[in-house]
Amino acid sequence: MIALIWAAIGYLLGSIPFGMVIARAMGLGDLRQIGSGNIGATNVLRTGNKPAALATLLLDAGKGAIAVLLARYFVGESAAIVAAGAAFLGHCFPVWLNFKGGKGVATFLGTLIALDWRMGLMACAVWLLVALIARISSLSALIAAATAPIFAWALGRTDLILVSLFMAVLIFIRHQANIARLLDGTEPRIGGKKK
Ligand code: G3P
Repeated sequence: MIALIWAAIGYLLGSIPFGMVIARAMGLGDLRQIGSGNIGATNVLRTGNKPAALATLLLDAGKGAIAVLLARYFVGESAAIVAAGAAFLGHCFPVWLNFKGGKGVATFLGTLIALDWRMGLMACAVWLLVALIARISSLSALIAAATAPIFAWALGRTDLILVSLFMAVLIFIRHQANIARLLDGTEPRIGGKKK
């Protein structure tokens, strides 16, 4: 019962589509009609508004982190793990947008930072490193996601392997169009305008 409650709280927090809210509030239009159509920070950046993209990144990560921290504070680690997975699901499948949400990357990073700051730091470092080398947001996300369960294992956080694996698999599923573009060499670089 407690796990269900924290799943619901996590889901509701995660389902707040900050990218859409910020883009609308700043007059940037409907993200679903822009670039890749995704509601995340990378696509907000395609509007050319860097502060809006940064705010989206921080808020999408922050909602995941808050879900984890609240669950840990009120219940404990197992509730925190449930809240992490649920917040991530909320971002990907928000009830407010007919379950058509984002790709989950910022929320994934936020939950990891709160679950274990070392794992979060490593995932962010992998993301940044790949972004600096390849300048492709989706590729950075895919590699950071794929390595997270390995970091959980390497750090002895076996309790985090399943949830990080779950998020990694969903991130790959949510990035199918990006993977197709990566394979045919048409995936845009960070700062590029389209798709
Ligand atoms: O965080 C989302 C990113 O990995 C891809 O976004 O808009 O290029 O599909 P986008």
